[in-house]
Amino acid sequence: MPTPSNMRGKAALVTGAASGLGRATALSLARAGADVCIVDLNPAGLEETAAQLRALGARTPVHATDLALHANCQAAIAAAVKEFGRLDALCNVAGVIVMCNAHEMRAVDFEKTLAVNLSAPFYLIQAAIPHLLETQGAVVNVTSSAAFIGEAYAAAYCASKAGLNNLTKALAMEYVHKPIRFNAVAPGGMLTNMGTSIKMPEGVDYTLVKRYSGLRGMVEVEDVAEMIAFLASDAARGYHGACITIDKGITAG
Ligand SMILES: NC(=O)c1ccc[n+]([C@@H]2O[C@H](COP(=O)([O-])OP(=O)(O)OC[C@H]3O[C@@H](n4cnc5c(N)ncnc54)[C@H](O)[C@@H]3O)[C@@H](O)[C@H]2O)c1
Repeated sequence: MPTPSNMRGKAALVTGAASGLGRATALSLARAGADVCIVDLNPAGLEETAAQLRALGARTPVHATDLALHANCQAAIAAAVKEFGRLDALCNVAGVIVMCNAHEMRAVDFEKTLAVNLSAPFYLIQAAIPHLLETQGAVVNVTSSAAFIGEAYAAAYCASKAGLNNLTKALAMEYVHKPIRFNAVAPGGMLTNMGTSIKMPEGVDYTLVKRYSGLRGMVEVEDVAEMIAFLASDAARGYHGACITIDKGITAG
């Protein structure tokens, strides 16, 4: 990354901050000087993150909610703005994955995957735009290497992440003359709760799975978090509409 992020005096909102990449992102932003509103479904995990953020000196409102619901996305942005009086960065990190044979996927799982991974970022962005225009702020969406390649047993996840990648680009174009930036980061496999708890479906063909499991091992969570914090900061002023892969070559060929 060209310059260390400086977020002093800035306010950020991070979803998925109860664990994994969301927590690491909140910590990276706080180390860069930001106050961080943390949002997640998991209140206990949020409290653990909050304690670590406060130890770094960050103001840290905690907002436990289910982002699968439109109204909750709007309320999360409103809570952050009420607390800070401003919003400089929105980092959409929360996500879910259900691996299964496509013909067996339950409608409820397909719809939840799209609701959390694609609709929620859009509703959060919608609510955040007026505030980010005021502060010349930024949105960073977390997608996946699965946004660029088809992965077996992950049809809903791939569709949701590819959708979020192109949503990022569409918004970048629509607001190209406005003081707001939209970017995405697409990690490969990381050793988070999601990365370690994936269950393969009955009868899985591992020759298919092997193709996208990475030739250089897992991606370090902190590397991705640092990139998100950088993109959220003014140091990334040249980045707009970028979808940056951090996957140790998975999508290279
Ligand atoms: N772990 C990987 O291998 C990997 C690879 C590529 C991309 N990603 C993406 O990285 C992001 C972070 O995932 P992670 O790896 O840290 O996994 P994680 O499971 O540790 O974190 C995901 C977080 O999202 C939260 N969440 C899920 N549903 C929610 C909802 N309805 N409302 C609010 N919060 C909700 C969870 O409670 C959890 O804290 C996700 O978008 C994921 O798709 C992960």
